[in-house]
Amino acid sequence: MHIITSIRDIQGHIKKLKENHATIGFVPTMGALHEGHLSLVREAKRKNDTVVVSIFVNALQFGENEDFSHYPRTFENDCKLLSQEGVDMVFHPDAAKMYSKGFCTSVIPGHLENALCGKSRPGHFRGVAVVVLKLFNIVKPDIAYFGQKDFQQTVIIKRVVSDLNVDVIIKILPTMRDQNGLALSSRNAYLSEVEKKDALCLYKALTKAQSMVQAGIQNTENIVQEMEKIIHTTKSATIDYISIVSPETLEEVPMAHSGDVAALAVRIGKTRLIDNVILLFS
Ligand code: PAJ
Repeated sequence: MHIITSIRDIQGHIKKLKENHATIGFVPTMGALHEGHLSLVREAKRKNDTVVVSIFVNALQFGENEDFSHYPRTFENDCKLLSQEGVDMVFHPDAAKMYSKGFCTSVIPGHLENALCGKSRPGHFRGVAVVVLKLFNIVKPDIAYFGQKDFQQTVIIKRVVSDLNVDVIIKILPTMRDQNGLALSSRNAYLSEVEKKDALCLYKALTKAQSMVQAGIQNTENIVQEMEKIIHTTKSATIDYISIVSPETLEEVPMAHSGDVAALAVRIGKTRLIDNVILLFS
């Protein structure tokens, strides 16, 4: 497995692969890898000749009071895991090279950046959009893989790719959870054992929403109220938002339809967690 830090070097490797008509599957990450990330890697491996994984904690997508400086960094272990999966290249660029002196270009994903997580994380999705676009331009993947876990991110990336005619196929894969339903996340590392149990309230609330729509209840105000009740039974939990939205526009819907998404962000102690489910009518 090649570990590449230089943008020029990886561009050289990619050029050769393209000359040999090898297809490139790409999984962008910020490291601290878990089974959620690895599920994307495995699918990329199944469907492409070559798999590239990037590990880059992107300062541009963190707010001033967010966790950039103590975001978990486990590079050696990440490389071990990726090598076991048969990944061909790990791209681990230097921040100073990614954002060289004078860098000033932004990618603004319109109204989509203001919905859901955008309300409490201003600028976050601009940071995501610009780094993902840069990574696409560097790696030139045929297919790029993202997790449903970061639902708003998937909507924005698909929109940016479509709006700017980026020549890449975007695949979204399901959220991987632990045996209790907690969505795997690098930020789960911040949780104590007690908080990990408390964090199950997110999944419980989403499961409630799913069962309500399956019982024929479509009024989203009622569904959100029931979800709130579940979160409120957990002392350490504070709600950032609970919303039921249309999956393309991210606008809240008064009546849920099959395919709409129930999404929430909840703080467990100091840790902000997000999760979502696609509501499917049986
Ligand atoms: P990161 O949080 O490291 O996630 C990398 C990819 O793994 C994302 O597509 C994310 O949705 C996916 N992922 C995370 N948890 C998952 C889970 N439990 N199940 C399935 N997939 C999961 O998302 C980012 O990094 C960054 O914003 C990035 C796109 C790399 C841009 O900096």
